[in-house]
Amino acid sequence: MKRFLTAFLFISALLIWTAGLSLAQSSQRSLESFNLGWKFTKYFNASTDMATTDKEPAGLQLPSADDNSWRTLDLPHDWAIEGPFSDTLENNTGLLPWKGIGWYRKHFTLNEADKDKRIYIDFDGAMAYSEIWVNGNYVGGWPYGYTSFRLDLTPYVSFGKDNLIAVRLDTKSWDSRWYPGAGLYRNVWIVKTSQVHISYNGVFCTTPEIKAERGVLSVKAEVESHIEQPITISVKASVYKLNEKGEASTQPVAEFSSPSATLPATGKHNFRLDIPVNNPVLWNLDDPELYRVAVTVLQGTKVSDVYETNFGFRTLNFTARNGFFLNGKKVPVQGVCNHHDLGALGAAFNTRAAERQLEILKEMGCNAIRTSHNPPAPELLDLCDRMGFLVEDEAFDAWKTPKKRLDYNKLFYAWHDEDLRAMVRRDRNHPSVFIWSTGNEVNDQNNPALSESLRAIIKSEDITRPVTVGCNWDESGTNGFQKTVDVFGINYRLYRYDAFFALKDNDNLPFHSSESSSTISSRGEYFFPVVQGDLNNNLPGKGIFQISSYDLAYPAWASTADQQWEMQDKYPGVLGEFVWTGFDYIGEPTPYGGDLTGLRPGNRRYDQAKELLEKQNVKEVPSRSSYFGILDLAGFKKDRFYLYQSKWRPDLPMAHILPHWNWPERKGQVTPVHVYTSGDEAELFLNGKSLGKKKKGQYEYRLRWDNVVYQPGELKVIAYKNGVKWAEDKMVTTGKAVQLSASADRQSLLANGSDLVFITVRVEDKNSLLVPRSSNLVNFSIQGPGKIIAVDNGDATSHDPFQATYRKAYNGMCLVIVKADKGAAGTFTIKAESKGLKGASVTVKIGG
Ligand code: GAL
Repeated sequence: MKRFLTAFLFISALLIWTAGLSLAQSSQRSLESFNLGWKFTKYFNASTDMATTDKEPAGLQLPSADDNSWRTLDLPHDWAIEGPFSDTLENNTGLLPWKGIGWYRKHFTLNEADKDKRIYIDFDGAMAYSEIWVNGNYVGGWPYGYTSFRLDLTPYVSFGKDNLIAVRLDTKSWDSRWYPGAGLYRNVWIVKTSQVHISYNGVFCTTPEIKAERGVLSVKAEVESHIEQPITISVKASVYKLNEKGEASTQPVAEFSSPSATLPATGKHNFRLDIPVNNPVLWNLDDPELYRVAVTVLQGTKVSDVYETNFGFRTLNFTARNGFFLNGKKVPVQGVCNHHDLGALGAAFNTRAAERQLEILKEMGCNAIRTSHNPPAPELLDLCDRMGFLVEDEAFDAWKTPKKRLDYNKLFYAWHDEDLRAMVRRDRNHPSVFIWSTGNEVNDQNNPALSESLRAIIKSEDITRPVTVGCNWDESGTNGFQKTVDVFGINYRLYRYDAFFALKDNDNLPFHSSESSSTISSRGEYFFPVVQGDLNNNLPGKGIFQISSYDLAYPAWASTADQQWEMQDKYPGVLGEFVWTGFDYIGEPTPYGGDLTGLRPGNRRYDQAKELLEKQNVKEVPSRSSYFGILDLAGFKKDRFYLYQSKWRPDLPMAHILPHWNWPERKGQVTPVHVYTSGDEAELFLNGKSLGKKKKGQYEYRLRWDNVVYQPGELKVIAYKNGVKWAEDKMVTTGKAVQLSASADRQSLLANGSDLVFITVRVEDKNSLLVPRSSNLVNFSIQGPGKIIAVDNGDATSHDPFQATYRKAYNGMCLVIVKADKGAAGTFTIKAESKGLKGASVTVKIGG
């Protein structure tokens, strides 16, 4: 914990690291952000469901094309997040206009002084089907929008003169089960090197020996030469310890040089160095200690490259019947799945937004992330390294057989080898990455040979981590398919655990719940009577597209958290779980995803969707983001946050009561009260009168008082652990809304163009209590050098734009996200105002 807390103190350092600047800025190699000052436009054609029918003109890659009327913007950029939401679009991809053709162009000049260098461009991800030209010449591209890739610009650029890069992206040719975003939505870099240098992601660090007094770092370094004659080079590796701020020790803690080797003309050579490191300090979840290795390429004494990458010393042990061990210590995997969007910011990656998500998850006791269902932005893995999270790094949502017509099946034959290798090479040095996943619920679970071949590709790049796959066919865990991976993964299907563990053949196969629960809820909504089960058949009422927050509702294939834990507790061999999902995400608003867009009469899904519309008495379903999150889309805690905290942080004294206690219409009616606590027993009081003590039985994870008759006043719970008072909570009937409150997640932020502050605004009564069902419209303004970037309130049905300066509170809360002007100093003040309420403001300092 110590290390985790200190991590917060060094957020500014983190932001610098995670901008990718850890690679050496030596005179031989430079890494420059290429995010600023792009021109952008987009086109849609009539064959899509888009409102506009602008036709894409030919020749936009040519320097002579006129881009004066295009928008000027900085990356990362998601062209669809500004909307507008439209009922003519698919609910499952967020009702947002992400399908289309996007063009980005940028002029740039390279110094004459760099003319002997290699010039590369690195895209951390480009959605999707990118094609890239420089000065009118086609350079290359990459279809899968989630893969990072490099292009060599050297043959196409001129020095001391204007250059033009043009990028065409096509999301019309891509289908997704969730909101994928669109555009140059991750960072872009220009990398300059000498003619002899380490290849792209060309250093692989492993730690074949880890003992208390001595560890060994094994470095495999691929060096490439662009020189026409053979040359002789050697490689030196210097190992540094990083401190809590991420700064490298001034002196290396170990160093090692290779013998010389001859590189053929324009050829490559792999060097291997084994470097003993004394008293290695282990990377673990509470103290994520990191090292950095600098690999120097030498031609004689001349340095031609210095390449740096971070790594850690840690051991992983996945057992079949006794759980997962990190550094020899048993660690239950308490993970969540997350999609890549960052709520109101869309798919445009932002390091601080991702860091905030991880901070919230850490507070809950989460220790692992599954990057469902694709490789993440690389900075997410830097954050996981530094904050102490395990990562299941996943490649695909489909292999050969489609789930949607234009999903990865279209790319599979030509690209799966390249995409898998790109993922592993980029991510293999991160100590946080503990397992690779080849896919999620693929429709090829009848093809074990295919699964084995994907595993083999990964193993040919990295044998230090196991490979898994998330399965959802009933027989996949018992018919032999399970043996195509090192660790088997089942999504949901608690009824298959018995069969899996009963099979002798599986005795040596580790098992995890690659996806669990999929409970659905809307923050602050409670519906009566309280029922458990599949809500498709139990909608809250006509025209209401929310889900009750008693955390008992789930779609047909899913379960409550409690049911999942029962199976884990029955089978301690289960390594742990990845809950679907940590945060709500844009798209897939199950059970309200069933609109008619793209469906035909007679199709099963069409019939279901039609039935839903008729039941709800509406023409269109408004929902555009998920209900699965433990946190809502704005990052606000739903009740479930406390349920997970009670199980995942058993040593933290806590208790949480639900529902809220403002039910004037329910006086005298039964209104069940549930309590989530890390204690084992609790007593509930209503207006001072005991409603009895309850104790958790075997496989019980919440305490329920199901017959409470509502009276306004105060509900109070006192929780006990082992008979001793442990924690308490209360829920009070509030007065009417009279004021707003505003609180920032941090007191200060950097003026680096990307750092953010998240300000929560609450509607409160005169005693500063949240007024539960309030929906007042809040207007935001800013004084000082900052900008409002986005707003949200966590309501999955709202069609108000995220990019606005107003938001209605949803169940009493809304969020405003603010950035400082680049290079600014001083402070800015955000004001929140609402008619009839006393306003609130918060002042944030600019600078470290
Ligand atoms: C799973 C799937 C996820 C998500 C989830 C919703 O079956 O793998 O991507 O769709 O269902 O419950």
